[in-house]
Amino acid sequence: MKVGLLGLGTVGRGVWQLISRENEVLSNRLGCDLQIKKILVNDKSKERGLAIAPELLTTEAKDILEDEEIKIVVEVIGGTGVARELVKQALSRGKSVVTANKELMASFGQEVLEAADLGGADLLFEASVAAGIPIIKPLRESLVGNRIARVMGIINGTTNFILSKMDAGQNYEDALVKAQELGYAERDPASDVEGKDAAAKIAILASIAFNSRVTAADVYTEGIGSISSVDIMYARELGYAVKLLAVAKVDADEFGQPGASGAGGAPVSLEARVHPAMIPLDHPLASVKDAYNAIFVEGDAVGNLMFFGQGAGSLPTASAIVADVFQAATNILGSVTGQSACTCFNSWPVKSIEKIETSFYLLLEAADRPGVLASIAKVFGDHDVSISNVIQKQTEAGIAEVVFMTNKVMEGNLRSALTIIESLDVVDKVKNVMRVEVGQDG
Ligand code: NAP
Ligand code: HSE
Repeated sequence: MKVGLLGLGTVGRGVWQLISRENEVLSNRLGCDLQIKKILVNDKSKERGLAIAPELLTTEAKDILEDEEIKIVVEVIGGTGVARELVKQALSRGKSVVTANKELMASFGQEVLEAADLGGADLLFEASVAAGIPIIKPLRESLVGNRIARVMGIINGTTNFILSKMDAGQNYEDALVKAQELGYAERDPASDVEGKDAAAKIAILASIAFNSRVTAADVYTEGIGSISSVDIMYARELGYAVKLLAVAKVDADEFGQPGASGAGGAPVSLEARVHPAMIPLDHPLASVKDAYNAIFVEGDAVGNLMFFGQGAGSLPTASAIVADVFQAATNILGSVTGQSACTCFNSWPVKSIEKIETSFYLLLEAADRPGVLASIAKVFGDHDVSISNVIQKQTEAGIAEVVFMTNKVMEGNLRSALTIIESLDVVDKVKNVMRVEVGQDG
C-alpha cells in the first residue's frame, strides 16, 4: 500500500516519523506493507533532520498524482490554493485523501467531498480539528444515536497556550513566540490569535453534529487581542477562567426557516461562534491549559462527554493522520471506499450574534463619585439588562474601574445599552466586554 505525502513541514515530518516507526505493526495489522513512496516539498535542499532517501523527495506533484501505485495521498501543505487543487486531482483519480487542512474543509468541504464521491474515494480529515483528539469519528459514528444540543470547546492550541501563559504572568508577545517555536501556530499566526483557525474547526464540527452545512464564513469570530491580564485577574476573582471558546449549538426558535425542522418538527436555528469567554472555574473546560484542547459534547442520550488531549503539534497531529491512513488503507483493501460523502441534509440558518443570549462581563473606567453607578444601572435597566454582580476599585484619584456581570441577555440589547453608556460623561471608556458561557441551563 503506497502513500504519497504532500508537504514535509511540522505535520508532514510527524507523519513520516510515525509511519516509519510503526511500519511493522501497521503492515501486520493491514496484512500488507504500508510505505510512503514519494513526498512533495517546495525545496528539496532544505535540512529536515530526518533520514529520508533524497530520491523520495520531489517538487513535481505529478510524481504522486500520476503514480498508479500510490493509492493514498496525505495532504499537509495547508491553505486553500495549491492544496485544494491537489486534493481534488487526487480524488478525481480515485486516490483516497487524508488531510489536516481545516481551512479547506471549512470553506470548500462540500466541493472536496463531492470530488471524493465522484472519484469513489475516501476523504478523511480527523486531524483537521483538535489534532490528536479523535472527535470527527466519534461525532460521525459513535454518537449517531444522539441528538446533539451543543458542542463547545477549546480548539486552538496556540491561543490556549498564550492565555495560560498570561494567566501565569507572562506577556502576550513572548507567549506567542514560544507557541511558534513549539510548532503550534499556523504559518500565519494571525489565523490563530484572530480566531479564524478555531472558526474553521467549529464550522467542521457543527456541520457534522447538526448535519447542516456551516462554513467558516458563517461563524461569528473574535480573537484574543482584546484580552488583557487585568481581565484574567478579574475573571479569577469572580470564579472564572478566560478561554478562547468555540461554540456550536442548536436552538429551536422563531428564526427557523420553513421546512427546516428539528426534533418533533420544531423550527431550528444554529449558533456558531468563536470568541474569548469566561467559564466557571469548576467547568471541566476551565482546567484545560497550555496547548491542550478539549471538546465538550452534550448529547441527549449519552449526556455530557469531554474529549481532551493535545490539539496541536507534529506528533499529535500525525497520530490522527496515521489513523485515517490506516482507515483509508483498510477500506481500499476491503473495496469499500467512497463512503465519506457529505451528510449535510439539513439547511438550518445560523443566527446573527445580536440574537444570541449569553451573560456578560463588562469592564468600564468611570468617574469615582456619587450617582455614577446609578446612572449606568439606569441605562442597563432601560434595555432589559439585569446585573448579577458589581466590583468597583479605585485606580487613581477620582477614577474607578467598574466590573459588571450581567444575567443572560440578548446581545443586541446589551450593545444598545453600551452605546449609550459609552456616551455618558461620567464614563471614561468601556475597556472590555466578554461573554460568559455557562452550562446549557445556566
Ligand atoms: P508547514 O510546517 O508550513 O509545512 C508545509 C509543508 O508544505 C512544507 O513542507 C512545504 O515545503 C510544503 N509546501 C508548501 N507549499 C507548497 C507547494 N506549493 N508545493 C509543494 N509543497 C509545498 O505546515 P504544518 O504546520 O505542517 O501544517 C500543515 C497542515 O496541517 C495545515 O493545513 C495546518 O493547518 C494543519 N495542521 C497543523 C497543525 C500543527 O500543529 N502545526 C495541527 C493540525 C493541523 P518545504 O518544507 O519545502 O517548504
Ligand atoms: N495552529 C493550530 C492550533 C494547530 O494552534 O491549534 C492545530 O490545528
